[in-house]
Amino acid sequence: MGVALSRLFWEKAPRDHGHVARLPAARGEREDGRRTGQTELQGISKNAQKKVAREKRLADRKKARKEEKKRQKALVKVQKRAERQARFEKLPAEERERAIQERAAAMKAGRAEEREKRAKVKDALQNRTRYSVCIDLGWNDQMFEKEQRSLARQLAYSYNALRKCVESDMVPLSMSIAGIDDVIKPVLSFSAQGWETWPVKLSENSLLETHEKEKMVYLTHDAEDVLQTMDPDAIYVVGGIVDRNRLRCATMDKATRLGIKTARLNLDRNISLQHGTPVLTVNHCVEILVNAANGMSWRDAYLKVLPVRKGISTAKSSDHDR
Ligand SMILES: C[S@@+](CC[C@H](N)C(=O)[O-])C[C@H]1O[C@@H](n2cnc3c(N)ncnc32)[C@H](O)[C@@H]1O
Repeated sequence: MGVALSRLFWEKAPRDHGHVARLPAARGEREDGRRTGQTELQGISKNAQKKVAREKRLADRKKARKEEKKRQKALVKVQKRAERQARFEKLPAEERERAIQERAAAMKAGRAEEREKRAKVKDALQNRTRYSVCIDLGWNDQMFEKEQRSLARQLAYSYNALRKCVESDMVPLSMSIAGIDDVIKPVLSFSAQGWETWPVKLSENSLLETHEKEKMVYLTHDAEDVLQTMDPDAIYVVGGIVDRNRLRCATMDKATRLGIKTARLNLDRNISLQHGTPVLTVNHCVEILVNAANGMSWRDAYLKVLPVRKGISTAKSSDHDR
């Protein structure tokens, strides 16, 4: 796949919404997802102005704290390196030579181990899978830049979940990503560095151009059917969307329009969520599928993957799915 990486930073991503309806600008946020400046705040109520100013103050403080932490970390690193160097220089010539050789050998061994790990992951993802998942990136034009960056991180978490699964000798899913367009490429390069080298099927083509429609099952919380058992011939599609519940029923509508089967993860029968929403993130869906594909019950997969903050408790034990 010829991936053009001329733009490396999301700020420079093209924002051609073309045929897609423009997004409503959130309060204090421009259509391109960035915060407005004070001068653009006229025309909104005083309370709203105060809220925006407070959010900006908090964001600035957070940024300053983050930068200070980074600076401190860099300082410690420099100090440690200087101490190491001073210790090294005090060594007699013979020991110095030995230290140099030992360090070179350790680095070589580390690189070889890393290469071996990568080869194992590549082989497992390409030749040793039983079930398939596809992430449909056909939504890039409908997300704010902040959401696109969050999606890119979720893709990286999804890939990492597959990698970890191979490292612990579990069977990974075969993963494809469809619809990698010019909007998302620079975002991926910024927030999911190294994505071009992931041993998964990366495609600029749309979902329908990538897989046979008959084999696809679009996963969506709004489906009537429940995913009970995984089918090795099916391709489970997860919508590459981060929308904070803004694009309601979007995946269900798309699947229906394209004539693709749908199914939902059956959370209600297995667990109850006190705070969270049953609409899951992309990486949580992928991680749940990975665990289910390795023989874990749906309930255990939900319990393992979903964050504690969702306030999870188990549904009646006799009632849950295998
Ligand atoms: C953050 S959700 C997107 C929510 C979006 N409003 C929609 O219409 O689906 C990202 C994707 O995860 C999958 N997903 C999330 N929760 C799910 C559930 N409970 N069952 C099945 N799929 C789910 C869907 O494929 C969905 O497109």
